[in-house]
Amino acid sequence: MSCNTNKKEQTSCSITDKGCRTTANPNENLGEYWCGKYTDVDYKTLGWYEEEAKPSLDLIQKTKLNKDAVIFNVGAGATTLIDSLLEQGYTNLIANDISSCALNNIKKRIGNKQKNVHFIVDDLVNPNELKNLPKVDLWNDRAVMHFFIDEKNQDTYFNLLHSKVKKDGFVILSEFNLQGATSCSGLPVKRYDTKMLQEKLGKNYTLITDFNHDYTMPNGEIRKYVYALFQKIE
Ligand SMILES: C[S@@+](CC[C@H](N)C(=O)[O-])C[C@H]1O[C@@H](n2cnc3c(N)ncnc32)[C@H](O)[C@@H]1O
Repeated sequence: MSCNTNKKEQTSCSITDKGCRTTANPNENLGEYWCGKYTDVDYKTLGWYEEEAKPSLDLIQKTKLNKDAVIFNVGAGATTLIDSLLEQGYTNLIANDISSCALNNIKKRIGNKQKNVHFIVDDLVNPNELKNLPKVDLWNDRAVMHFFIDEKNQDTYFNLLHSKVKKDGFVILSEFNLQGATSCSGLPVKRYDTKMLQEKLGKNYTLITDFNHDYTMPNGEIRKYVYALFQKIE
């Protein structure tokens, strides 16, 4: 069982004699539901795992941000993007997820480089600790926002984004595209194209570049994503 037993981090993962419940109802406890996803199987077999998060890394390179820029990864899960950014010399990373079980995989891999990563277990659509987040130079989302199908949750997500991204800061949204799957991990998703992402962000963000990407899952299936990099102009 890979759940963290650190008291501060139990918010999203129920620690009982039996460990995490892997059958949680997502409508009752979303954190525990996601925790189950990361503890039922080896995270490297999950349908969004990337050995190297190349499309995201390519977009981050385009921002030309300094190595001490604040890079905020929402719903980071167990992403290897954090490892790669640390290897490239970035020193000011924030990794959020609703599931501590997910983030623990990153912590284990990066060892003493944890000093360059601030981990925040919190819900993007019901934020507590995230409200105290400093302003960030880059908001990076891969395969997270598309789970927010209720408009109210979308509004909360984008309000948080607007309040936390610095002027001239960047936003990367990488979600299932209009040809993409309609559900993931047992949950329904909303699919996007760049125009829809731009509408969600509003006129204060300008599109820098975008592309569609066919991601190959560990089981060989394809998932179709749109990747879009925006800059906040006001
Ligand atoms: C499909 S996975 C993508 C993980 C990671 N971004 C990646 O690309 O490997 C979605 C992630 O979003 C997290 N998540 C889902 N709903 C969330 C919420 N309301 N707040 C924060 N994280 C959430 C899940 O725990 C999960 O790790």
